[in-house]
Amino acid sequence: MLEISHIRKTFHPGTPNEVRALRNVSLSLERGTFLIIIGTNGSGKSTLLNAVAGTFLVDEGTVSLGSHTITRWAEHQRAKLIGRVFQNPFSGTAPTMTIAENLALATRRGQRRGLGWALNRGMMGELRDRIRTLNMGLEQRLENPIGSLSGGQRQALTLIMASWLKPELLLLDEHTAALDPKSADQVIRLTHEIIERDKLTTLMVTHSMQQAVNLGNRIVMMHRGEVLHDLYGPERERVRPEDLLQRFDEVRCRERLDSAVAEMLRKNYI
Ligand SMILES: Nc1ncnc2c1ncn2[C@@H]1O[C@H](COP(=O)(O)OP(=O)(O)O)[C@@H](O)[C@H]1O
Ligand SMILES: [Mg+2]
Repeated sequence: MLEISHIRKTFHPGTPNEVRALRNVSLSLERGTFLIIIGTNGSGKSTLLNAVAGTFLVDEGTVSLGSHTITRWAEHQRAKLIGRVFQNPFSGTAPTMTIAENLALATRRGQRRGLGWALNRGMMGELRDRIRTLNMGLEQRLENPIGSLSGGQRQALTLIMASWLKPELLLLDEHTAALDPKSADQVIRLTHEIIERDKLTTLMVTHSMQQAVNLGNRIVMMHRGEVLHDLYGPERERVRPEDLLQRFDEVRCRERLDSAVAEMLRKNYI
C-alpha cells in the first residue's frame, strides 16, 4: 500500500550545516495500517512525513502509494491522495474564510468544480451534520471565520477536512502537541473514530507514549534519521508506555557513550 524504499534526505549537503535527516529509511505498510512514529527530537519524524507528502524530493530511494510511484510527484499532486494535519492549529486552514468555506474547500480537493457548486448542492446540510457529531457547537458557527476558533476546535475541523474524501493516506504530525490536555483528548478520540470508521492507512507522529500504546497497530521508533525499532503483531500488543520509555533511555545512554568515546578520540586517549 505505502512502500518507502531506501530513502535518504540530507539538508544543506556539503556545508558545515549538513544534516543527514533520513538515512536509508524503508517501511512497508499494508492498507489499513495505523502506524505510530516516536523518536527523540530531530530524529527525522517530520522529515519522513514531509518526504511522503512531497514537501521536498528525496535524494535517493522511492516512495509508492497504492499503484502510483510518487517519488517525483509534486506536493499538490500528492495532496489528491494524502490528507495531512500538522502540529500548528493555524496551518492547514484559511483563517479569514468561514468554517463553511473551509469545509467546502476540503470537499473538492483535487477536483475542478468551484466552491459555489459544492455549497449549492446541499453540501452545507451534510457538513452541518458531520460537525454536529463533534459536540463542539460548531454547527451554529458555520458562517464565522475559522480564525475565531480555539486550537482544539481548529484541529478537530482540520482532521475532518483532511479525512473527508477518505484519502489513501493520512499524515498526522504531533497534531495534539500544541493543545491543552482536554482538547488533546477530544482530538485524539476523534482521530481514533475517523481512522477506525474509514480504515484509513495512517502515519501519526506523537511524543506521547500513552497515545503510542493506546492507538494504532504498529509502532516505529526513529533515531538519527533511521528506523531503530519496528513493533507490530504480538510484540506491539504487549508493549507498555514504560517499555517505550526504556528504549528512549537506551538511546540516550548510547548517545552518551558515543560522545564520551568521541571525546577520548579527540584527546588521543584511545
Ligand atoms: N527544511 C529543513 N532544512 C534544514 N534542516 C532541516 C529541515 N527540516 C528538518 N531539518 C533538520 O533535520 C533533522 C530532523 O528534523 P525533523 O524531521 O524535523 O525531526 P523530528 O520531527 O523528529 O523532531 C533536524 O536536525 C532538523 O534540524
Ligand atoms: Mg517533528
